[in-house]
Amino acid sequence: MFSEGLINSFRGLETPFYYYDMSLLDRTLGVVKDAAIEHGYHVHYAMKANCNAEILKAVKAAGLGVDAVSGNEVQLAIDSGFGPDQVVFAGVGKSDREISLALGHKIFCFNCESAQELTVINNLAKAQGTIAGVALRINPNVDPKTHKFITTGLEENKFGINPWELDEVMNTIRGSDHVRLKGLHFHIGSQVVDTSRYQLLCEKVNEIQNWFDDRDISIEFVNVGGGLGIDYNRPDVHAIPELRTYFDIFKSHLNLPSGRQLHFELGRSIVGQCGSIISRVLYTKQARKTTFAIIDAGMTELIRPALYQAYHQIDNLTGEGAEDTYDIVGPICETSDAFLRGIHMSKLERGDLVAIRSTGAYAEVMASQYNLRDKAKSYFSSNEFLRD
Ligand code: LLP
Repeated sequence: MFSEGLINSFRGLETPFYYYDMSLLDRTLGVVKDAAIEHGYHVHYAMKANCNAEILKAVKAAGLGVDAVSGNEVQLAIDSGFGPDQVVFAGVGKSDREISLALGHKIFCFNCESAQELTVINNLAKAQGTIAGVALRINPNVDPKTHKFITTGLEENKFGINPWELDEVMNTIRGSDHVRLKGLHFHIGSQVVDTSRYQLLCEKVNEIQNWFDDRDISIEFVNVGGGLGIDYNRPDVHAIPELRTYFDIFKSHLNLPSGRQLHFELGRSIVGQCGSIISRVLYTKQARKTTFAIIDAGMTELIRPALYQAYHQIDNLTGEGAEDTYDIVGPICETSDAFLRGIHMSKLERGDLVAIRSTGAYAEVMASQYNLRDKAKSYFSSNEFLRD
């Protein structure tokens, strides 16, 4: 992943920083694009995973649409050149301002999460003299077997409309002249590695489609969300996730009547593996059972370990010599600001560089300035000065 030349060019840069391997991103996008073309699928990139301008440029060049979850994301998508007809807007708590902004752009569709939200969208669309395309986000009650904080498709989660509410929701739609029902939307959770979960989702979607088809309610598309996990344990072995296998599950198990489109909202699986955080060892400190390597990246640049106890591989880029056992921790005044505990690696000394891997998704976008820290810069393999 990191050649000697690249590591040498990292040495002169202020750390920590986000580094993106654009060639890996393009190869991953190529797989998504091929599968989408082959099967006629529509993929909306979940820009919440990473909305860096360079990343959005690459996503747009691959011909994908976007899944936005705030008014600002909708605006950024439009400003980045995505057509309004390529933008879907999801979120359990869309504000009136955000809905009006998206209506003004005439986006493709709102993924709606309740009858009350449908009424609000209808009223705001009426005020603008427009009609909003909507998809109903239905909670399928399928366990994605992932971390509980990123599980969304269980009945106890705040997301979506429960199947038993569909009569009421359809009554609301019938009484709303300014919304037009276009599709059904689902999303069971994120970092889903047990792909049998998607088979279960297909079975639920088939049942729910029947409910609509039995009532002759026209549905143009089904959107099955995203969530495909990446291999945080072996980022070099599985640099590109099993996207083909993932798409094939839906091909085999979803009963789509002819003419009904299939949409996806993938985030992490597209951008996760192309990113790393490059950080410097500030200090090493001997404890009774371990040596602390205190690096200059912290939970402000990558909150996933602190928030979800997430594992990210750390590569020692410059340290040499006999192995030692390290706890690799950040500089923030929180004990949870720790990346890895008790790992063995070649000797780390002040000034050595490390790479925290698989940080293309949900790292830079979740950065904070806690402790009044500076925002870390981003660099790309396409930057001239980083050519090795
Ligand atoms: N669609 C919906 C409705 C979503 O809520 C999400 C993610 C996605 C698509 C994209 O999921 P992906 O393909 O990226 O898994 N911060 C957490 C992840 C939060 C995911 C939120 N929703 C993390 O760092 O693991």
